[in-house]
Amino acid sequence: MRVDVLFGPPPTGAPELTGRVVAVVDVLRASTSIAVALANGAKAVIPCESAEDAVHRSKSFERPAVRLAGERRMRAIPGFDLGNSPTEFTRDTVEGKTILFSTTNGTAALLAVQGARDVIVASYVNFSAAAALLRTALRGGTDVAIVCAGRERQFSLEDAACAGRLVRFVGKQFPDVAGNDGARACGIVEQRYGDDLALLFADAEHGRALAAAGFSDDLAWCSAIDSYPVVPVYQERQITKLGPERER
Ligand code: MLT
Repeated sequence: MRVDVLFGPPPTGAPELTGRVVAVVDVLRASTSIAVALANGAKAVIPCESAEDAVHRSKSFERPAVRLAGERRMRAIPGFDLGNSPTEFTRDTVEGKTILFSTTNGTAALLAVQGARDVIVASYVNFSAAAALLRTALRGGTDVAIVCAGRERQFSLEDAACAGRLVRFVGKQFPDVAGNDGARACGIVEQRYGDDLALLFADAEHGRALAAAGFSDDLAWCSAIDSYPVVPVYQERQITKLGPERER
């Protein structure tokens, strides 16, 4: 069995994804916001290529049924209902709503994953739930891949650390599991930080940028391990919460 880690939106037809269960990780902040939105009752999150795409798609819904959400350079897209701060996706705001979501890196990585058997969204806030699903995949004989969204197609420390933690937890019961150098490198990053996510975010470029832009509260939310224990599943162009009606 294999658990491989890829960095940045994967190229079309990446063989490491074909037929696998794939976890997309964008700890700061898209995958955290998606988990929070679904845990707070959002009906679905639809990743959109651009702000224009989100607005275009909103026209096929009754306006009260949707929330336009997303960021550019960390700030809410002008005219949108919400930015990309997990603190904004409260039950009052998102319950029963479809979120049309466009972010710089997270939604781009999700949209680039093709050919996978299943795609889930992972972060620290839903870490154990996501890890359990990946472990189930390995137990059933399906290889796993983890896609780190990164930042502007570059490596990002926080996604690598979360991926390394997933590799460690998922591989625990499978001593023979193999992985690429990406998985090994993420393991080294994860060992460096362990549970000290405040230090991780203080070292990470995007963590520092968010703090400088006034989003320190978001860093606290994004580091609350297992605070939103849901498994967001991306299927047929929308992300919904894995529940009793959608068990795998
Ligand atoms: C993204 O998807 O690019 C990130 O979540 C950026 C952000 O922190 O808003």
